Amino acid sequence: MSIPTRREAIKGIALGSAGIAVSGYAGSAANANTRSEENAIPIQASRAFRGEHQPKALPFDPTKLKGLSEKLIRSHHENNYTGAVKALNVVEQRLDAMMKDKDLPAYIYGDLKREELVRTGSVVLHEYYFANLGGDGRAAGSVLDLIKQWFGSYEQWEAEFKRTANALGGGSGWTILAYNAHTSEVHNYWAWDHMHNAPMSRPLLVLDMYEHSYHMDYGSAAAKYVDAFMQNVKWEEVNRRAEESIKK
Ligand SMILES: [Fe+2]
Repeated sequence: MSIPTRREAIKGIALGSAGIAVSGYAGSAANANTRSEENAIPIQASRAFRGEHQPKALPFDPTKLKGLSEKLIRSHHENNYTGAVKALNVVEQRLDAMMKDKDLPAYIYGDLKREELVRTGSVVLHEYYFANLGGDGRAAGSVLDLIKQWFGSYEQWEAEFKRTANALGGGSGWTILAYNAHTSEVHNYWAWDHMHNAPMSRPLLVLDMYEHSYHMDYGSAAAKYVDAFMQNVKWEEVNRRAEESIKK
């Protein structure tokens, strides 16, 4: 066995290093690809995308409301509200499926993220709406004090609430008496759609002004629907929300 020359020894070290480097690079590339796919494909199920929301039952007897028919209320609850819950579930599950497609353009994903916001707003506001119906329409409790404090009198508050609601007649949206946790103020907020909410506002009284909430009973006479709604407000629930919001 001959002793390698210094030149041969250096060449051998270089080749050896190159070999290690090549195999190392190949390994790194494989690992990089694997990591990339792992980043794009969530392996564990995410709670945010379960799509398991369940519709809440009507919290009152729909045959007992004044000026709002059972047919209207049931149609609203079963078609519009329950439909929104089902749609939200589909949207969440589709978002999950889309995240597994690493080549999906972000702008396509964004369209469905908008739907997530629309459906979430619809579900939440409808649940507040139905929960503040079924009462005798007579305001009482500490929420009445709050209304007087911020609007001067119940009558002045009601006039502004109704005018805000009537401004949405013939179109779509929500009128929301809310306590704003940031400003510590109480306002009647105008909302053109399910996504239109004053930041940090906690709903106290929610009125649905989408045409589906009154057209069956009143046609395009939105103001008559607003009057009927006021006769059925469950102020005990509004009061509970007010006390809870201020406590927080
Ligand atoms: Fe609705």
